Amino acid sequence: MHGTWRYTPAGTGRRAIKLLLTLNVGKKGVKSMQFHRIQQVEPWLGRSELEALNGCIERNWLTEGPAAAAFRQSMSQLTGANHVALAPNGTLGLFLALLALDLPRGSEIIIPGFTFMASASAAVFAGLKPVLVDVDPHTFTARPEAFERAITPRTSALMPVHIYGQAAYAAEIAQVGKRHGLAVIEDAAQACGVRYRGQHAGTFGDVGVISFFADKTITMGEGAAVLSREQRLARRISLLRNQGRESSGSFIHESLGMNFRVTDMQCAVGQAQMARLPQVKIDRLRRYNLFQEGLTGLAQLRFMKVDPNSEFIPFRFPILCPRMPELRDALELAGVQTRSMFYPLHRQPCLAGLIDPVDLPICDTLYGEGLCLPVHQGLQDSDVHHVIDVIRNTLSRKSSVS
Ligand SMILES: Cc1ncc(COP(=O)(O)O)c(C=O)c1O
Repeated sequence: MHGTWRYTPAGTGRRAIKLLLTLNVGKKGVKSMQFHRIQQVEPWLGRSELEALNGCIERNWLTEGPAAAAFRQSMSQLTGANHVALAPNGTLGLFLALLALDLPRGSEIIIPGFTFMASASAAVFAGLKPVLVDVDPHTFTARPEAFERAITPRTSALMPVHIYGQAAYAAEIAQVGKRHGLAVIEDAAQACGVRYRGQHAGTFGDVGVISFFADKTITMGEGAAVLSREQRLARRISLLRNQGRESSGSFIHESLGMNFRVTDMQCAVGQAQMARLPQVKIDRLRRYNLFQEGLTGLAQLRFMKVDPNSEFIPFRFPILCPRMPELRDALELAGVQTRSMFYPLHRQPCLAGLIDPVDLPICDTLYGEGLCLPVHQGLQDSDVHHVIDVIRNTLSRKSSVS
């Protein structure tokens, strides 16, 4: 007897993905069993995205064109950024932004140790040396003081990272950058729609990057927006991303560039997703609050705190617990896909020799005790209650680890 997993996307995208386990039972035929597995990540797609894609085919226009122009315009309206360029993904968006800033090779860029690897790899590929700082134990983002303390004569840039749907202390970090004459590039990959002190994440520094990967607040499959304020930097980004030329029809290249363009199909999906953003915020906050209410009072659990100056569009429901491995295993057994928190950058094997050794105890704790629960659109309230029950039951038992 053997089985195959088959994914059947939920019609409206509002129900959790169902997994059909088809069991081949000898020669007597096929038996089907339905399991309800709660995914960590699930994009919310439907008719409007299908119609948007149809529009591209009907227009016979696949490369960056009308849908890209509309999506850039919408992003500019949402964020208030003067200039919006598109990139194939957040990682390449950060790389593009750093190339455009033209920072001295070998100079230092200060990055929180608690972030996705791409924040650092983009910097290394742009010829910079990451200098890592620890994060606040409550908000999981690095404070302006941490950035300021790490500045040396070799520092050229600061990279605040907006994490788990709340904003980093970007206004204050941009001020630190200004005081010291440093470039500020915001990794706002997880912060589409999130404002800090009323201003959109990614618009405080010189340049900011928002990702539209499939697990992000809104998605275009893969893709990113590169936000900038100044005309000169925006032009440099524009040239770099399009083979060093003003327009795609020309074979005259005024500078060296690459191809960081996206397709109109991605942008059409992104534009349809934009209309969903207000509902995504409402739904995710509702689920977040359900989790918070259901898990309150468990002495062994700690939660992320949201800075009162930050808007919040939950990206995950992160919890901290010394018994995290037990919780993770119990949830997996109960059909709930979990995610660990980020493996801290100062421990990443690929950065050995590229960074100076540093102690980042909060980053270590977040990885050692942290677990991410899903908050996506496909979750039903009953799914959230199921997750809460599994956690409560597990923690009510005596620890199996002595
Ligand atoms: C904080 C952070 N930075 C950068 C990225 C990279 O974005 P992308 O996956 O679009 O390359 C991600 C993606 O998860 C992220 O979470």
